[in-house]
Amino acid sequence: FARVTIPVLQRWKGEGRRVVMTTAYDAVTARIADPVVDIILVGDSVGNVCLGFDNTLPVSMAMMNHHLEAVARTKPHALLVADMPFLSFHLSPEETIRNAGGFLQRGADAVKLEGGAKRVEIVRALVDCEIPVMGHLGLTPQSVNVMGGFKVQGRNADNALRLLDDAHCLQEAGCFALVLEGIPAELAARATKSLTIPTIGIGAGPNCSGQVLVFHDVLGLTESHRPKFVRTYVEGFPLLQEALSRWAADVRNGAFPTPQESYRLPEGLSDAIAN
Ligand code: KIV
Ligand code: NA
Repeated sequence: FARVTIPVLQRWKGEGRRVVMTTAYDAVTARIADPVVDIILVGDSVGNVCLGFDNTLPVSMAMMNHHLEAVARTKPHALLVADMPFLSFHLSPEETIRNAGGFLQRGADAVKLEGGAKRVEIVRALVDCEIPVMGHLGLTPQSVNVMGGFKVQGRNADNALRLLDDAHCLQEAGCFALVLEGIPAELAARATKSLTIPTIGIGAGPNCSGQVLVFHDVLGLTESHRPKFVRTYVEGFPLLQEALSRWAADVRNGAFPTPQESYRLPEGLSDAIAN
């Protein structure tokens, strides 16, 4: 596989080739995803998906680095994007550059951060340091307290126009792509058409340059409520649990392990240890 790079993604936008992105949080999920997708995101969704938090706000740089390092060790062909967690890009340009640069030193190809026009300055600062930035607009989960829950955004004229303005500000600031999350399909289509950079939708309708879904949602590994924009291709949770149960039953009834699944002493030695 030739590596997916930012110029390649830009070319695909011109060709109308759709981009596929999913999340990975460790070496196993990365190895499953990499031959299939174009972009792997080590998302701060690791907080709710893997670490048991209710939202992404408690996710720290230390947690992100730990998961990014595991994914990066698999050397994916996909573009590897690391998500800037809450408070990692808010305090100062210096701290933001250190955090984002640390992601690149750990093997990320780019970083992603949430927010619109108010992030322009920090996006420029990162791009000035040769750190590629993916923007993220709409239902931005780190804004859960401001939004009053996980609610579709851009549904009135003011918010819709602000989102389009935010998208153009981020493009102007140097973002190479934008995630559009939880917005009306018409608004995502409008943004995609008017921008030169690719858009990657999640709950943003079909007319984006590509789509992203959380790995565990596609594979049915999440037990909690799934929003309507998720399509699950296998109910992985009950499937894997059923397989594990069969092994547990075999242990309990003595059917596992068999002699074929066991090691033997060399000829003669079994007598020696019998005494
Ligand atoms: O953290 C995440 O998984 C994300 C994607 C859903 C875009 O930000
Ligand atoms: Na995220």
